[in-house]
Amino acid sequence: MDSIVVRGGNELNGQIPIAGAKNAALTLMPATLLSEEPLTLTNMPRLSDIGTLTQLLESLGAEITSMADGRVKAMSTHGKINHVAEYDIVRKMRASNLVLGPLLAREGQAVVSLPGGCAIGARPMDIHTNGLEAMGAEIELKDGYLHAKAPLKGLQGAVIDFPFASVGATENILMAATLAKGTTVINNAAREPEIVDLADCLRKMGAQIDGDGTSTITVQGVDRLGAATHPVVTDRIELGTFMLVPAFTGGEVECLGGRLDLIGAFVEKIQAAGLEVTETDKGLKVKRVSDRVKAVDVTTEPFPGFPTDLQAQMMAMLCIADGTSVLEEKIFENRFMHAPELVRMGADISVEGGTATVTGVQKMKGAPVMATDLRASVSLILAGLAAEGETVVNRVYHLDRGYEFVERKLSAVGADVERVKGQ
Ligand code: EPZ
Repeated sequence: MDSIVVRGGNELNGQIPIAGAKNAALTLMPATLLSEEPLTLTNMPRLSDIGTLTQLLESLGAEITSMADGRVKAMSTHGKINHVAEYDIVRKMRASNLVLGPLLAREGQAVVSLPGGCAIGARPMDIHTNGLEAMGAEIELKDGYLHAKAPLKGLQGAVIDFPFASVGATENILMAATLAKGTTVINNAAREPEIVDLADCLRKMGAQIDGDGTSTITVQGVDRLGAATHPVVTDRIELGTFMLVPAFTGGEVECLGGRLDLIGAFVEKIQAAGLEVTETDKGLKVKRVSDRVKAVDVTTEPFPGFPTDLQAQMMAMLCIADGTSVLEEKIFENRFMHAPELVRMGADISVEGGTATVTGVQKMKGAPVMATDLRASVSLILAGLAAEGETVVNRVYHLDRGYEFVERKLSAVGADVERVKGQ
C-alpha cells in the first residue's frame, strides 16, 4: 500500500486545478442505464471510485469508453442488460447502490447487494427502499442482497416524504421517477449541487424535472430517454479542501474552477476563522489574513449547511487555530476517526459522541499516521503541511478514491510532499 510523506513548513503559493465532482460523477454514470442511447460525460475526475463504478456498470452490460486521459467517458447500454449488481464490487463502494433506481426503471427488476457499513457509519438504505416501494416496487432483503421488482406495468409516480434529506435516496428516486408512469414528488429532498447536476443531465436526456436544488422535486415520467453529453460539475469538496491550505502554510492559492455558490456555508466559516476569499475570473483565491487562524464552531448539516465531507479537513485546521472550537457531526454517527490520528501529531482534541472539542496548539509534530476514510486521509496531509518534521500518511488508497493526484497538486504550489510506493 502506498504512503504519502509530507515535510511541513513551506509557504505555498500558486494555482490548484479543481477536478469534476466525484459525488456527481458517481450518480451521473448510472444514468446511462436509463436510456438505450449514448451518454457522454466530460470533465470526469480520474479516481479509483470511478474505476470501481465503471467495472460495475460493465458487469451490467454497459459499454464504456474512456477518452482524453480519462476525462471523458462515453457510455451506452443497449439491448438486454444484466440486473444483478454483485457484492464483490458493491462492497468496495457504497455509491454502487445508485444503480438500484435506474435498473428498476429500465428493467423492472434489480438485485443489488447491500453495500454494507463503512468506516463512518452503518449507512442503511431504508429511505431508498421505502421511496421505491411507494412507487410500486416490491423489495425483499435476501442473503445481503436487495431483490427488487417493479410490477408488470412498471413504476408509478408517487408523493414521497423523506424523513431525512438523504443525498443517495434523492438520486435513486429521481432517476427512477424519470421513467415512472405519472408524477412523482419528493418532499424533503436533498439540495446538494450534485443533485442539480444530475437533474440537468437527465433533462438533457429528455426527463421532465422541476425543483431540483430545493426541498421539493417534481418529476413527470416519460416513456423513454435519449442521448446526452454533460460536463460534471466542479468538486465542491476538493475545492473546500484546497481552499484551507493557506490556513496551514500561509501564502496564497487560487483554486481554478472554484465557485462560491457551491460552498456558501463553508466560505462564511473560513472567513470567520480569518481566511480571505476573493473571486477571480479563473476561480477563488484564498490567503490567511494574519499569521494564525481563529477558532470557530462548526455543525455539519445537509446542503446548504456546512458539508460533512469537509468536517475532517476543518478539524485539522482548528487544531492549530487560536482558541477552542466545538465541532458537531450531525450527518454520520462515526466520523471522527481522524481525531486520534491528529492527536498523535500533538493536537488537543476531546470527542464525546458526535461532538469534538478542539483547543488549538501552536505547532503540530509530524508522525506516522493512518488514513481511515477518504476525507480523514486528506485532513492528515493538510495537518502535515503545517507540522514540524515529517508526516507519513499510510493506507492512501482511501485518498485515491476521492482526490486525483493530490501530491502533484500540492507539490506544484511548493509543498514538500511525495508518494512512496508500497511493497
Ligand atoms: C453522499 O452519501 C455522499 N456520497 C457522501 O460523501 C456524503 O457524505 C453524504 O452524501 C452526505 O452529504 C456520494 O454522493 C457518493 P446520505 P449518501 O444518504 O448518499 C443516513 C464522501 O466522502 N441514511 O445523505 O450515502 C445515513 O446513514 C462521501 O465523498 C439513512 O439512515 O449520504 C447517514 O447517516 C462520504 N437511510 C445520513 O443519512 C438511508 O436510506 C446521510 O446519508 C440513507 C441514508
